[in-house]
Amino acid sequence: MPDLAIIGGTGLTRLSGLEIARREVVQTPYGEPSGPLTHGVLFGREVVFLARHGYGHTIPPHQVNYRANLWALKRTGITRLLAVAAVGGITPDYAPAGLAFPDQIIDYTWSRAHTYFEGDLTHVTHVDFTQPYCEELRALLIQAAKDAGIEACPRGTYGATQGPRLETAAEIDRLERDGCDMVGMTGMPEAALARELELCYATCAVVANRAAGRGTAQITMRDIETHLTEGMAKVGELLRHLVQRL
Ligand code: HPA
Repeated sequence: MPDLAIIGGTGLTRLSGLEIARREVVQTPYGEPSGPLTHGVLFGREVVFLARHGYGHTIPPHQVNYRANLWALKRTGITRLLAVAAVGGITPDYAPAGLAFPDQIIDYTWSRAHTYFEGDLTHVTHVDFTQPYCEELRALLIQAAKDAGIEACPRGTYGATQGPRLETAAEIDRLERDGCDMVGMTGMPEAALARELELCYATCAVVANRAAGRGTAQITMRDIETHLTEGMAKVGELLRHLVQRL
């Protein structure tokens, strides 16, 4: 049984260092996940990997089948799930190519399939979501970053927007007034579905750009890619130390 599942976001469609054992196509009651699950060994630990946007990066944030993805990963027997996700930095500490481990989230997404608790229910369930991320996995991430000598923001509030367009400057001003430090398009419903499945879920956010109105220049895909390449190299090192601590 794998020790950890990893969902890779933009800039992370394959895990470097992963010795691939097999690929598994999974059908779920919620449809198809973003792609086959990749089972393998990462620095000596069994892991399962899934590229959130598909291995060819073709599925936009609002069309990701979050329910199928998490259901398929849960089925492998994992209890811990690390999500890697690109974000825009809103407050000054969340600088391009940096890493952050959010501890809170605000959901601005709409009309996404966001719960397993609907349809043919025998009873209504409301999961506790006061602390949306798993503190145990967050603590491991913070420690792994220290071990690796990587400076990372140990907390922060993630604002989840609908996408796929980036935000207006006024929208980012509003998110900052709400208390958001970073903005991304995939944090929800992923975090809430993980909680419904009782998975220990945490996010490693990789800052791709300064959010709208926070940088000097227009946000270009080229800049995003440059920062993500730098940030993902740090994620690789982080993972090496993280799996040793599992
Ligand atoms: N906004 C929303 N999602 C993002 C951004 C952003 O600026 N950068 C990377 N993902």
